[in-house]
Amino acid sequence: MAVPLLDLQVQYQAIRAEIDAAVAEVLATQRFVFGPQVERLEADIAAFVGAKHAVAVSSGTDALWLTLRAAGIGPGDEVITAPFTFFATAGAIHNCGATPVFVDVRPDTFNIDVDQVEAAVTSRTRAIIPVHLFGQCADMAPLTDAARRHGLFLLEDAAQALGAQYGERFAGALGDAGAISFFPSKNLGAPGDGGMVTTDDAALARALRLQRNHGQGETYYHEVVGTNSRLGEIQAAVLRVKLRYLRQWTEARRDNAAAYTARFADIDGVTPPLEVAPCRHVYNQYTLRLTRRDAVREALRAREIGCAVYYPVPLHRQECFAHLAYKEGRFPRAEQACREVLSLPVFPELTQAQREEVITAVTDAARG
Ligand SMILES: Cc1ncc(COP(=O)(O)O)c(C=O)c1O
Repeated sequence: MAVPLLDLQVQYQAIRAEIDAAVAEVLATQRFVFGPQVERLEADIAAFVGAKHAVAVSSGTDALWLTLRAAGIGPGDEVITAPFTFFATAGAIHNCGATPVFVDVRPDTFNIDVDQVEAAVTSRTRAIIPVHLFGQCADMAPLTDAARRHGLFLLEDAAQALGAQYGERFAGALGDAGAISFFPSKNLGAPGDGGMVTTDDAALARALRLQRNHGQGETYYHEVVGTNSRLGEIQAAVLRVKLRYLRQWTEARRDNAAAYTARFADIDGVTPPLEVAPCRHVYNQYTLRLTRRDAVREALRAREIGCAVYYPVPLHRQECFAHLAYKEGRFPRAEQACREVLSLPVFPELTQAQREEVITAVTDAARG
């Protein structure tokens, strides 16, 4: 039985009537940008994460980039982040004119190693971007301490972690601001690109509203130079329907993850992902470490089991960052993760039969 890594078709068919009605409602109004759907989605997401403000933008990438700009970060500034993440985290730092400064990750959670952050702080450091990788929050309590001590802006890359918790609080409401992605494969996925910034800071929220609309407070009066990073009404309308299901989908992801972990825990060469207190993981990805990763990946491919390597090359070794002069071996844990990780199908609608198929395939392949 073939098992896809993600099956958005099943999700759509299950709630098709609601989605189609929401899209039809927008089409009937012919109002496609800056309308009521985006405003309501902003209110819904702010309430969901427990932040005072939410500002919709066109992608998770823009959520990061425009927040850095709105916070006044630019040329000459350094921003600390992890090298084991999706490219956008560091791309956003570079694109606002600042320099990414990498710090290695923890081997158990793949998230930034807070103990190494302090040593990376210089007189130029302005911000830290912890990434809540695969859906589990970075260790925000000590990071918040470090940020306060050094007067640094703390921006959560919560692109993969909408709904994730750190104790009682939610990703996106743990730092000075949080960047969320609505890319279709995210736990809350739009019919296209989309993103959101959450924050308690009213001045930052206003600066973001300027940034996403060419710096216009009043139409054709430009206070600053921004860009066009608007979220569409159709995207927002669909996201509002899907948000009503997010908790239930998260539970299904967690059930799938728990079933996998129970069966993989005792297999040599297989390390299931670890949920570390006080985090509540939302498993945008269920990511194993495998000593024979490439062989397992080939075996899964041969059985048509969807799987993916997130990510094969750490950011400090990317060609575009060669000028930063980080050598191979500089961040050994990130480099090892790139050699060992494999993500498996964990989407909410995965059937028990599909799950068993994945478990059997991984078990057979890992045992060689
Ligand atoms: C960790 C991380 N940061 C940022 C992004 C960027 O989000 P988007 O694809 O919506 O621009 C993504 C999504 O792909 C991501 O996974």
